[in-house]
Amino acid sequence: MHFARLLSLSLLPAIAYTQQAPIDVREATISSLHGPLYSGLTTCREIVSAFIARVERFNPDVNAIITLNPEALDIANSLDEALSQGNATGPLFCIPILLKDNYDAVPMPTTGGCLALNGSTPTHDSPAALALRRAGAVILGKSNLHELALEGISVSSLGGQTLNPYDHSRTPGGSSGGTGAAVASSFAVFGTGTDTVNSLRSPASANSLFSFRPTRGLISRAGVIPISYTQDTVGAIARCLADLATALTVMAGIGYDAADNATSAQPPTVAGTDYTTYVTPAGTTSLVGTRVGVLEGFFNRTSTNETDPVNEAMNNVVSVLRAQGATVVTITDTATYNATAISAQMDVQQLEYRELLSGYLSSPNLTGARPQTMPELYSTPDEFLVIPAQYSYVETAVRSSTSNSSYSSKQTLIANLTRALYATIVSNNLDCLVYPEQKNLVVPVGSASQSGRNGILAALTGSPVITMPIGFSPSTASAPIGIPIGMEILGLPWTEGPLLRIAKGIDDRLHARKMPVTNGMNETVEVTAAYTQVPRITPLRNIPSAYPLGVY
Ligand SMILES: *[C@@H]1O[C@H](CO)[C@@H](O)[C@H](O)[C@H]1NC(C)=O
Ligand SMILES: *[C@@H]1O[C@H](CO)[C@@H](O)[C@H](O)[C@H]1NC(C)=O
Ligand SMILES: *[C@@H]1O[C@H](CO)[C@@H](O)[C@H](O)[C@H]1NC(C)=O
Ligand SMILES: *[C@@H]1O[C@H](CO)[C@@H](O)[C@H](O)[C@H]1NC(C)=O
Ligand SMILES: *[C@@H]1O[C@H](CO)[C@@H](O)[C@H](O)[C@H]1NC(C)=O
Ligand SMILES: *[C@@H]1O[C@H](CO)[C@@H](O)[C@H](O)[C@H]1NC(C)=O
Ligand SMILES: *[C@@H]1O[C@H](CO)[C@@H](O)[C@H](O)[C@H]1NC(C)=O
Ligand SMILES: *[C@@H]1O[C@H](CO)[C@@H](O)[C@H](O)[C@H]1NC(C)=O
Ligand SMILES: *[C@@H]1O[C@H](CO)[C@@H](O)[C@H](O)[C@H]1NC(C)=O
Ligand SMILES: *[C@@H]1O[C@H](CO)[C@@H](O)[C@H](O)[C@H]1NC(C)=O
Repeated sequence: MHFARLLSLSLLPAIAYTQQAPIDVREATISSLHGPLYSGLTTCREIVSAFIARVERFNPDVNAIITLNPEALDIANSLDEALSQGNATGPLFCIPILLKDNYDAVPMPTTGGCLALNGSTPTHDSPAALALRRAGAVILGKSNLHELALEGISVSSLGGQTLNPYDHSRTPGGSSGGTGAAVASSFAVFGTGTDTVNSLRSPASANSLFSFRPTRGLISRAGVIPISYTQDTVGAIARCLADLATALTVMAGIGYDAADNATSAQPPTVAGTDYTTYVTPAGTTSLVGTRVGVLEGFFNRTSTNETDPVNEAMNNVVSVLRAQGATVVTITDTATYNATAISAQMDVQQLEYRELLSGYLSSPNLTGARPQTMPELYSTPDEFLVIPAQYSYVETAVRSSTSNSSYSSKQTLIANLTRALYATIVSNNLDCLVYPEQKNLVVPVGSASQSGRNGILAALTGSPVITMPIGFSPSTASAPIGIPIGMEILGLPWTEGPLLRIAKGIDDRLHARKMPVTNGMNETVEVTAAYTQVPRITPLRNIPSAYPLGVY
């Protein structure tokens, strides 16, 4: 009796609903959604509802979302209205996306995952969010991040710890780890991130996804919580290269923005580029004659169960490249290409952070109670989370600025590194350099830091990188299909298009991306009743005891 009642409650609306259009959003792409939408088999409201249902079902497993956009269903309705009038425009028409919670997007607060910023609400969209919205995207919500994007564990005082959907005992990389876990879990078609050292690439690598870190200056960073003028970039994380290229085309379409003067570096040739033309149908991209450098200094050759799977996956890529007619050149200059040494000598974040964050916090484009400066934020120890490995970073940043004498000497070293990098590429006549994003597998929850990552080279030199999935470690008890492994493809400035082409040529042969299967995540989720409003998401309070709040 009770069972029958449950059945009638849960199944009847589902049947009525799905008769019209069962929409399967697992691994959905822009084109797999536009097909049924434009042929009248589904509606935008049904598409958005299907993603919300997946978030409701699986977000408690991975804790990737900080908030859903209360306007998401209203936006879907207005897009359905436009569609009914034959006015569906924009390459992202009705494509649900998530924004890392350091992008300003009305009407949601921009928290950076920080309790102290829980009410800090923008009056305007960031240019990147606005470009995505104008292209038709439905901003479904905001994803968790490592607090204020400062490390790669993806734990925050407001959002808790995000877990890796492939292995709940591991972190999702970071700092854009909420976006990585969410996109891998098919909570949206793609998501945005930011990258100051590794933060778009580490979550792509750890979640079997693709990301781009753009050339410095290609995409305006205005309206995004800043860390470093030299190193910050905004970008996207997606499940396939075609969607990644669409996201890049839309975001780069902002062009010059006076609010981010780095965009003045854009050469006229990049204006209006359609990056999707570099991602052609499967099997049509030739790698014959492509010259690829492998940075030997960015591997860890000490054999362990955490490094061997990475090195084996990279060996496999080299075999594929050679089999496809590419030339592989090993770059043996391990003195120049030593990520640990480069970080120690040249990273300028700590010198740029205070001035930039204080500028952001005091912007007239923010409303709501909040600290007005960076030192004020860090004077409220119960309202932010700094993991022990970051204590000295923050302590130094609070009293440092670009007027410290070490700043110009670090910038001189960066300029020298940039020349050395260009010389490596040009003298070997290379199309790109490749190396693992992380020398070892993504670290377990509770670790001191996200060790072994190689993002610093592109971060300091402003170089573009496409990150792509290249395989998995062997399966373990906690990782049924193994732990994802990713590779960076780095090129000269403004070569995003050719880098996408090389990634496509490799991906056509590797097909490494797989969806997660933990707790039935590879199964469909029925929308059992039409949503009347967007549900509220409450992040888990699952901060590991290794990171005590309020101790700083
Ligand atoms: C179509 O949409 C555009 C952009 O939103 C709008 O400016 C235009 O008025 C719409 N046209 C019609 C016929 O609804
Ligand atoms: C932010 O946190 C404070 C203190 O916990 C709470 O009173 C307030 O309602 C929160 N604001 C928002 C917008 O969530
Ligand atoms: C560019 O913007 C930065 C940060 O706002 C500022 O420090 C710098 O002086 C600006 N440079 C120019 C040439 O306007
Ligand atoms: C490697 O071995 C250690 C120690 O036995 C274990 O904790 C860890 O989970 C293993 N890693 C993998 C990827 O199997
Ligand atoms: C510049 O870079 C080259 C190549 O890494 C290195 O050999 C040289 O010592 C560097 N010069 C300075 C002044 O750091
Ligand atoms: C890389 O740099 C670190 C720190 O300076 C040093 O300890 C290490 O030996 C270097 N590795 C190589 C291969 O030179
Ligand atoms: C405020 O937002 C507007 C609209 O996006 C923008 O033009 C302006 O530069 C922003 N101001 C600041 C101080 O960020
Ligand atoms: C910058 O200068 C301040 C004041 O002298 C000092 O406390 C701080 O450690 C310096 N920062 C760096 C990164 O050298
Ligand atoms: C290489 O791996 C070994 C073994 O896990 C570790 O002790 C060492 O710190 C790693 N080196 C680098 C540069 O990541
Ligand atoms: C989901 O994954 C599990 C474990 O690998 C597998 O047994 C099951 O068949 C998969 N289901 C679907 C729908 O692919």
